[in-house]
Amino acid sequence: MSEKVISDYNGYDYKKIFWEDADREYEDQADRMAIRKLLPKRMEKFADIGGGYGRLANEYLKRAHKVYIFDYSKSELAQAKEMYGDKVETKAGDIYKLPFKDKELDGLMMIRVTHHLKYMDKAMAELYRVLKPGGVAVIEVANKRTLPKMARFITGRSKVNPFDKKVANYKDISANGFYNYHPKYVEEIFEKTGFKTEKVLSVSNFRSKSLKKIFRTDNLVKMEDKAQAALAPIRFAPSIYYKLRKPEE
Ligand SMILES: C[S@@+](CC[C@H](N)C(=O)[O-])C[C@H]1O[C@@H](n2cnc3c(N)ncnc32)[C@H](O)[C@@H]1O
Repeated sequence: MSEKVISDYNGYDYKKIFWEDADREYEDQADRMAIRKLLPKRMEKFADIGGGYGRLANEYLKRAHKVYIFDYSKSELAQAKEMYGDKVETKAGDIYKLPFKDKELDGLMMIRVTHHLKYMDKAMAELYRVLKPGGVAVIEVANKRTLPKMARFITGRSKVNPFDKKVANYKDISANGFYNYHPKYVEEIFEKTGFKTEKVLSVSNFRSKSLKKIFRTDNLVKMEDKAQAALAPIRFAPSIYYKLRKPEE
């Protein structure tokens, strides 16, 4: 399939602008604690899909013998190489056409990427293809059914209905598309693709400037740790994490 890459991070200093210069320590910690709970402890070949500059590399380097960071952006990958050297192999390309052989990997993760994906079904089919039977995929999904989005819809401040399963595309955030998904919609895709869902976590539950001011990041992180499993059944958080397994043949 030839599909225009909708979000080009080449030349954008994601590390500095999005993480270091912004107050996102809580969000970073929330991602990390979810990954620690979901990624297998030992893997032979692992890939961070849409891994950018390798922000989360310290969460998987010790767990895998061979680590790939895959991304469309060559400038992000160059940063990753500079930071991690021979500990990682970088690969550039498009998620819809991954440069891995069928059944090559025994683990992968894809974090903070689904909001760039117009075709979730095609991306998931690619991830499934490159995983070995028995392999694990940890996928973060940008959720359209959050409490703030419900409030904005109910009070007429947004036309996007968080209750229907249709994919939300926020053109006001990015002219090229910025996608949010209903949990039911993605869960149906996971099932149709062949994945079995083993665990779900509710992540970044307290992503709010006011909550950060009131509670401070260290307290929010403690609350987040407890909330990730407890709130998973209601799927209200901005990020929903899934541990998916490709069944054994
Ligand atoms: C928000 S960043 C997330 C980076 C990393 N996963 C993290 O959590 O820090 C999204 C990344 O997805 C990559 N990306 C977006 N669309 C892509 C595509 N179609 N193929 C490959 N990479 C893509 C971007 O280049 C960018 O590095």
